[in-house]
Amino acid sequence: MEMVGEARLRASRERVWDSLNDPAVLQASIPGCEALERTTENAFTATVVSKVGPIKARFVGKVTLSDIVALRSYTLIGEGSGGAAGFAKAQIGVVLDPLEPQLTLLRYTVNATVGGKLAQLGSRMVDAAARKSADDFFELFGRQVEGGPEAPTAPALKLTDLAGGASAGRLPTATPRSEEPVRAAPGLAAAASPKDVASEAEVADVLTAELIKVWIADQIAVVTLNRPDNRNAMTYAMWRTVPAIFAALDRNPEVRAVILTGANADFCAGADIAEFAQVRDDVTQATAYEVAVDACCDAIAGISKPTIAVVRGYCLGGGAHLAMSCDFRYAAAEAVFGIPAARLAIIYGVRGTRKLLSLVGLPTAKRILFGAQRFPAAEALRIGFVDHVAAAASADSRSWWQRLFGGAKQVEAGDPMVEARGFARSLVEHAPLSIAGAKELLNGMSMGTGALDLAHAEALIAAAAASDDYREGRAAFSEKRAPRFQGR
Ligand code: COA
Repeated sequence: MEMVGEARLRASRERVWDSLNDPAVLQASIPGCEALERTTENAFTATVVSKVGPIKARFVGKVTLSDIVALRSYTLIGEGSGGAAGFAKAQIGVVLDPLEPQLTLLRYTVNATVGGKLAQLGSRMVDAAARKSADDFFELFGRQVEGGPEAPTAPALKLTDLAGGASAGRLPTATPRSEEPVRAAPGLAAAASPKDVASEAEVADVLTAELIKVWIADQIAVVTLNRPDNRNAMTYAMWRTVPAIFAALDRNPEVRAVILTGANADFCAGADIAEFAQVRDDVTQATAYEVAVDACCDAIAGISKPTIAVVRGYCLGGGAHLAMSCDFRYAAAEAVFGIPAARLAIIYGVRGTRKLLSLVGLPTAKRILFGAQRFPAAEALRIGFVDHVAAAASADSRSWWQRLFGGAKQVEAGDPMVEARGFARSLVEHAPLSIAGAKELLNGMSMGTGALDLAHAEALIAAAAASDDYREGRAAFSEKRAPRFQGR
């Protein structure tokens, strides 16, 4: 029989790996295991009492580990004889994927054969018993692994990494090379310049408060927007901190791909509207704010390494700009997208609009911006806004017989993080220079400004920021009512 399955374990990959190699943990996890003793580095002797249908027997045999890739995978082969009951042999492949610092996906495949009296029971009964054993094993293993003390993890990025500056990199750095520099609207005093990025203190505040978290494993950096109570809405300080983080990841030779995601249920519900009264109130502030948003998104788009947005829940407004600034977008089936700028009397910026146009084409971009409607992941996939949607949850596909003997389980929804990590792993094996070059060329070709009168566009954006409607949109949002716009 063949069987595949997976288990999510609330523990670091290091801890899960150590446990998979610890005879005491394995013995406590294998149902009916009376003894498991190490004989050589990767071999054990084992005694297991097992019951399949009416046959109960004590199996004595050996367990060997092979194809070992430390922290990642191994194959466990167990074979034993149960005397008159017959014999059993199982080959179990285990692969570990780190999803978060303290969350590991364990995937397994089982190939099992039985002989003698056991084989006469028929494959249905043997299959059901094997599945039940696997389910029991992972429940017991999970209990052993989860909740134990974890070694403290070193921060993935230190402030000193962020202070490196654009010229310190081995690889091209996060500057918007393929686009013109971020500009402020003409004639506006005190507008931000491209160099007006966050101060060290501002970056330190954002990282210390963990508003943005960074974690690196398997050469893949995961940048997590972390304001889940506010649906990961971006504060001004967060917009201004992201460029320093992405520049540092671009310089870091240990990083070959970057995933951008949001903590818990959502990707990002856009800019933090509640903060607008302090940081985006008048035209000058609004202009500086938009410069910071564009600089942030350009910094993401401009790094030489491949980037993937992993989108769950809401991905709205500025959140959509963040996602569009990544090379790829992997969405959960329940993700919701939209650019509601027209509900706030904001003109979506030049950069974001251009990225949207290059992804979905003119009529669809107009529909999204004029209509300000939210749309589901399936629609996002259809129009080319996202590249991949993880499979939706479905009912258990096992037969009633298997459920009866193997324990019923819902088939969980696909996880875009698992799929994005798989894709990222395939990319980190390819030549960084090829990817960097292709990225530069493609971004440059698809995002050129052409004949657009930028000064006029920026003046329109500033006029919107000065309008009564802009104030009305914010007031309506905070008062949880429909806005009444006047067009001025
Ligand atoms: N800025 C600031 N706070 C935000 C936010 C944003 N962009 N989006 C959500 N939040 C806050 C809400 O104000 C709420 O806070 P509260 O609990 O203190 O009231 C919390 O996050 C949860 O959101 P809530 O609105 O209660 O959830 P919901 O399921 O009813 O609606 C959204 C979710 C995302 C549809 C709704 O919050 C929304 O429309 N947000 C604004 C999206 C937007 O216009 N983005 C573009 C900004 S330019």
